[in-house]
Parts: sequence; structure tokens; C-alpha cells
Amino acid sequence: MSHNLVMMSYTVATILFILSLSGLSHQENARRGNYYGMLGMAIAIVATVLSDTVNSYTILILALLIGGAIGTKAALKVEMTQMPELVAIMHSLVGMAAVLVGYANFMDHSSTITGVEKSIHEIEIYLGILIGAVTFSGSVIAFGKLSEKISGKPMLLPGRHWLNLGLLVASIFLGWLFLQQAETGGGILPLLLMTAIALAFGVHMVMAIGGADMPVVVSMLNSYSGWAAAATGFMLSNDLLIVTGALVGSSGAILSYIMCRAMNRHFLSVIAGGFGTTGGEAAVVEGEVTPIDVEETARLLLDARNIMIIPGYGMAVAQAQHTVNEITKFLKDKGKTVCFGIHPVAGRMPGHMNVLLAEAKVPYDIVFEMDEINEDWGNVDVTIVIGANDIVNPSALNDPNSPIAGMPVLECWKGDTSIVMKRSMASGYAGVGNPLFVLENTRMLFGDANTTLQAVLKALRG
Ligand code: TAP
Repeated sequence: MSHNLVMMSYTVATILFILSLSGLSHQENARRGNYYGMLGMAIAIVATVLSDTVNSYTILILALLIGGAIGTKAALKVEMTQMPELVAIMHSLVGMAAVLVGYANFMDHSSTITGVEKSIHEIEIYLGILIGAVTFSGSVIAFGKLSEKISGKPMLLPGRHWLNLGLLVASIFLGWLFLQQAETGGGILPLLLMTAIALAFGVHMVMAIGGADMPVVVSMLNSYSGWAAAATGFMLSNDLLIVTGALVGSSGAILSYIMCRAMNRHFLSVIAGGFGTTGGEAAVVEGEVTPIDVEETARLLLDARNIMIIPGYGMAVAQAQHTVNEITKFLKDKGKTVCFGIHPVAGRMPGHMNVLLAEAKVPYDIVFEMDEINEDWGNVDVTIVIGANDIVNPSALNDPNSPIAGMPVLECWKGDTSIVMKRSMASGYAGVGNPLFVLENTRMLFGDANTTLQAVLKALRG
């Protein structure tokens, strides 16, 4: 394929990626956004494969087949609740690719560039490997934390900020050393040392982050993976990879900012690690819970006029969204006002609840963001909290020692009655007790959310 045709295809792919991002910004266009992204990626792959930079089709086709088979198998097998882990591990692959491409570039002596151009290329290699290694090890730890293979508790080493600063200074010094030695064809030792430091930094950075801050880490690593891809693009002189990496990098950075704002956190304090750790002990929750049964729940719902539903991670685990939609339809047909309140970090990935509700075909116009409804609790007769915990925890607002202190939550206790559906008194992702469960106007409906909701639906229908 001629160079011009490749460039033209890259331009079309770039436009499709931009359209994809804009499509993904709203549920109604999200499906279309995905199609644009898939088409853009297909064009990008075909154009690159047919370009004259490729000279060994056997290896390429073999790699595509192996990668494609692993990707297809993972996508078919993964449960919806495992999506965040899958995304984290995919980010780690982008990071690893940047490191490998960096080393391959470093070892490739066929290039004829000299002078400033050569130095710039060496800086690209150094930065590409640095960002790639941080992304790789950080994402592997994030995978471990999200899949609960590694504890969600922050690992706070003494003097950790000094340690981070030391690692940064060492990386800058090694970068300088690398550029000096690369002049004479050397530089592998500083490069290897920096890689080890970057890997250690990635591990330390994510280990220091508490469970409740994982949303920011996920979006931040998403951003890093974009910058790692952009760095790979520079190393390979591939314009499309640079643009795509920058799109992912900047959209991930915007998402991290939105997440931080939603959780009332400072971005820098999250990435420096250990935010939310005051050193004090979170208050212990004391009091009696008031259980409720399915019939009583149905009666309360039939007596209510305004009903709010707050879904959380447990709804995803129970796959209760379709039953939730059935109940919503039933109650709406009975003339009730039914709304959904969505917390920005509900579930385990950005937009998790919106995706599930859209899948179950819950109408978009009754699904509200937390900010849109947090003032209106006075009008709510019954709130059903489905497998949510941290996002409705009042201690975020009144216990300064809580790991989630300062995070805005859905203040459902300000409504008439809250019915909390979960299987036990276990804590949520942040690992803190929830005083909501023992409040006078809270009723606990224990059991798997889907099974219980099906029973509620049956009771509603009489
Ligand atoms: P969580 O606080 O994790 O609480 C979920 C609750 O669901 C648990 O307490 C669990 O209690 C219950 N549950 C689990 N399976 C259930 C089932 N089959 N039926 C009924 N209940 C079930 O969830 P949340 O309120 O959605 O808050 C999200 C948390 O995850 C926040 O701390 C957030 O920071 C963190 N996080 C979010 C993200 C993103 S981007 N959204 C990413 C990483 C981490 P039982 O075991 O007693 O049933």
C-alpha cells in the first residue's frame, strides 16, 4: 500500500476514534461509539499490515492469530463483574508493549539518524520504557486489588513520599547517564536500572492506594496506558499510534479528574498514595438492625408514591438489572414515580451501573446522577438500595477518620424509609462499617439481590 494511502487510512481511523469517544460520552450513543471505534481499529490494523514497514508476514499473521485468539477467549469468558480486572490487565499489556518496543529500538542499530535527531530518539526510548514500566507494574497490582487477590488496604511505607522523590531523582540521573553512554553505543545499564526503578514505583504507587480510591487509579492507569502507546508511536514513528495514544491519555486524564472531583479528592494526593488515611481509627458501628421480609417490602412499595432505586456493585454481582427493570415497569404502571440515583463510583468501573441499566432497557430519563437528586430526598417515600454500601455510607460525611471521609454519598437516610438489600452485614469495597444499616428508618432485606427482587416482584403482582 502506498504511503499516501496509509496516511489517508490513518486520518480516517483518527476521525473514527474521535467520533467513538464522543459517542461513548452518552448511553444513547454508546453503541454507535463502539462501532466507530471498532471500524477505526480495523482500518488502522489493515493499513498498518499492508504498509511497507512490514516485511515478515509469517510472524505478523502468527502474532495476530495468537493475540486475537487470546483476546476473543478472554472477552467471551469474562463476567461483567470482572470487566475492571480485564481492563487493568489490558493496560498492563500496553505498558509491557511500550517497554519491549523501547528495548527493541535501543538494540536496533540499523538506523542512520545522527546528532539532535538521535538524541531525541534516545529520549523517546527512555521515556517510553519509563512510562511503560510504571503502567505495567501498576496495572498488575491494580488487577490484583480489583480481583481481591491483593488486599485493598493501603500499604503505607514509612517515608513513602521521600522514597517516591528518591526514585524520581534516580530516574532523572539515570536518564542523563543513559544519554551520555548512548553517544558511544552503550547505555544498557542505566536503562535496565531505570526499568527496575519504574517497575518498583508502579508497584509502590498502587499498593499505597486505599480500596476506596481505586476508581481514580483505574482511570489514571488508563491514561498512563495512552501515554505509553503515544511513546511507542514516537519510537516507531507511527503517527496514528501517537494520536490514538494521546486521545486515550488525555481522555483518561479527564476521567481521573472527574473521578477525583466526584470523590472530593485531590488528584495529586491520590497518586502520591495513601489518601484518606488520617491515621485515626474509623468509628465502630453500633446498634440493632431492623430486618424486613419480602411481603412487607412489597406493601411499602405499593403504599409509596415516590420511589428511588440506588444500585451498587451487588446488583452487578447478582445480575439483578432485568428484575429491577420488571419491578420498575410494574410500579410505573401503578402510577408511581420511580427514579434511579447513580453514584459516580458505584460498582467497579466508571459508568458500571449505567451500562447494566441500559442493558436491561431501563429508560434513560429516569436515571439521575447523584448531584441531580441529592437535594430531593425529602420527597422520597421509599428508597431501595440494591447491593450498594460505600456509596450510601453516612460516615463519609460525619466520621473524619473513615477511609471514605469527604466522599459525597447518596444521602438516602434523609428520605422516609430505606430498604437495603444485601446478603449479610459485610462491608463494601472500602472495608468500612455502614451506620445506615442501623438507622431507625432503615430496613434490611437480606439475600441475593436477584432472588429477593424476584420474590418482591411476585409479591407485588399478588
Ligand atoms: P460496595 O461498597 O463494594 O458494596 C457492595 C455490596 O454489595 C456489598 O456490601 C455486598 O454485601 C453486596 N453484594 C454483593 N453481592 C451481592 C448479591 N449477590 N446480592 C446482594 N448484595 C450483594 O459497592 P458500591 O456501594 O457500589 O461502592 C463501590 C465501591 O467500589 C466504592 O468504594 C468505590 O470506591 C469502589 N470502586 C469503584 C470503582 C469504580 S470506577 N466504580 C472501581 C474500583 C473500586 P454482602 O456481601 O453482604 O452481600
